Amino acid sequence: MSRLKLAVMISGRGSNLQALIDACADPAYPAEIILVLSNRPDAQGLARAATAGIPTRVIDHKEFADRTSFDREMTKAMETAETEMVCLAGFMRLLSDEFVDHWRDRMINIHPSLLPAFKGLDVQERVLARGARFAGCTVHYVRKEMDTGPIIVQAVVPVLPGDTPDVLAARVLEREHDIYPLAVRLIAEGRVAIDENDRAVIDGAVAQQGCLVNPVG
Ligand code: GRF
Repeated sequence: MSRLKLAVMISGRGSNLQALIDACADPAYPAEIILVLSNRPDAQGLARAATAGIPTRVIDHKEFADRTSFDREMTKAMETAETEMVCLAGFMRLLSDEFVDHWRDRMINIHPSLLPAFKGLDVQERVLARGARFAGCTVHYVRKEMDTGPIIVQAVVPVLPGDTPDVLAARVLEREHDIYPLAVRLIAEGRVAIDENDRAVIDGAVAQQGCLVNPVG
């Protein structure tokens, strides 16, 4: 079986990277991580990759004159490694249009809200401030506008009385670790198509691990 070759882009803790590393440790999983790329030399996720024996590369954005040259260097590194799909996992830089176009339909992201609600940063603070009853997370293809793009998988968690942003974020994060490997699996199995309305349609969609693929067909 040939496995889909993933590059994972991180800036920090790397717990979603770890979830992908753990999924890929199963020889039956249809994807493998061939490169972990960080824009920060101190990202904790780099140690996770090293422990798993995965090649890492630090490309420090501060060493580049502009976003385009930084993004081109990342593309070069990922293409040299023969990357087939890019997984953003807590990568905290905005991406140039050129980069997003280059990896169109080959780049996915995880966001800690039920998109299209609560795009951007400080999500759980805003969820609590608005009194939302449910929170959750989304894996989606990347488009030019931040936190938009075809939705592949979502998971929902309740907002409970007494929740703080940190408590709620931890509840959501647990589900992130389920849906990111699930979304990658669906793509690697060739079950995700993008329709004429730029929606992700899943072949044989079923609820798995308590996560919903969207639209459920
Ligand atoms: C996650 O909450 C993810 O949804 C968001 O950034 C955070 C990254 O966490 N995009 P980690 O580095 O994967 O632990």
